[in-house]
Amino acid sequence: MTERRAADHPSPGSDAGRTWHLPDEAATAALGAQLARVLEEGMVLYLHGPLGAGKTSFARALLGASGVGERIKSPTYSLVEGYVAGARPAWHLDLYRIADPGELEWLGLDALSDPAALVLVEWPERGRGALPPADLQLHLAYADGGRHARLQVVTPRGRRLLQRLP
Ligand SMILES: Nc1ncnc2c1ncn2[C@@H]1O[C@H](COP(=O)(O)OP(=O)(O)OP(=O)(O)O)[C@@H](O)[C@H]1O
Ligand SMILES: [Mg+2]
Repeated sequence: MTERRAADHPSPGSDAGRTWHLPDEAATAALGAQLARVLEEGMVLYLHGPLGAGKTSFARALLGASGVGERIKSPTYSLVEGYVAGARPAWHLDLYRIADPGELEWLGLDALSDPAALVLVEWPERGRGALPPADLQLHLAYADGGRHARLQVVTPRGRRLLQRLP
């Protein structure tokens, strides 16, 4: 995993995010595990990127490193999977198959508002208005045979977390 410093990719307010090149799945997983080590209680992460960009790979590593002992399935068909990470609830959603955020009502997403819950959402744009707001947004894109990752800060605690990342 190679971090691309802001100087390589100048952007306004470059402290509002960090970028990395992830050459393989192990690098995607390493970033997820690193993030798990600096997470605060109740963080909400949106995971953006095209089909196959590595959103589930990232989420699986993050959840595993957060203390989820069981096998972490892709929620592609179930839409939502619930776990216990350490002593706290964790939710992993994949909203690819949602056509309208109203369809999410039957999922009972109230549990996502638990301030202690870790929430990871793939395809969050499909749940707009029905999801808790993100602290951080990860953007994954195909690049150079691997992936480009940009972690974008949304809230002050998202910023704290990003600053604690090695
Ligand atoms: N940095 C990387 N470089 C190359 N391949 C990667 C990288 N990260 C993950 N992959 C691979 O990409 C494939 C798709 O990964 P994954 O299922 O996590 O994508 P996804 O974004 O969750 O897709 P979907 O939108 O279908 O849910 C997997 O085979 C995984 O090993
Ligand atoms: Mg996925």
